[in-house]
Amino acid sequence: MNTLQSPPGTSAPGKKLVWLLTLAVLSVPLSVYCTSLDDDTDVTEAEPESQFMDLRSYVEMPEKARQILQEDMLDHLAVLNEINRYLAENDLPAAADVAENGMGRSLLSKYQDEEMRPGRHMPKEMREIGWELHDAAAQLVTAARQGNMKKTLLAYQRITGACVACHYSYRIR
Ligand code: HEC
Repeated sequence: MNTLQSPPGTSAPGKKLVWLLTLAVLSVPLSVYCTSLDDDTDVTEAEPESQFMDLRSYVEMPEKARQILQEDMLDHLAVLNEINRYLAENDLPAAADVAENGMGRSLLSKYQDEEMRPGRHMPKEMREIGWELHDAAAQLVTAARQGNMKKTLLAYQRITGACVACHYSYRIR
């Protein structure tokens, strides 16, 4: 009985020390992080990092246009995911095809009813981020067809940069 209980008992102080040390080491970056958070709240200028203070501009659009935009967005996410997969598989031609069909400028003319195209209801700056997304996609297509992985990844980052830029600036509800 004693022998069975002794291993955890004897090793406990050592374990405890390791645990405390780990805790101490981990709490250093945490406290630094918390201090930097405190600092941020003191800054009066716009801080897009704060999820609690919504600084995005509200963009009004008809219900139908809003639905179309949301469908487009889900599609963008799926396309991005597919591009990811092909990049991971080192299949640049397939990544190019997906980007061309799913994120090219042709997407914008998909809707017959002009009034319900989300782009029509976007402020100029927002629409420009939209164009930036499609330009970046075109750049990815070109780079991928050249077989240039580095340029393809740069274009890929430009795509996600456009997603981030727009999402941090605008909301539609
Ligand atoms: C030109 C602006 C713009 C760009 C570029 C953009 N989005 Fe969006 N996206 C929006 C807006 C506006 C919303 C709605 C936000 C809200 O609910 O108010 C949105 C919402 C979404 C949603 C949530 C959809 C839902 O069901 O509500 C997803 C997912 C999304 N975007 C993915 C993406 C991805 C991935 C990219 C880049 C490949 C991207 N978006 C690029 C403007 C943009």
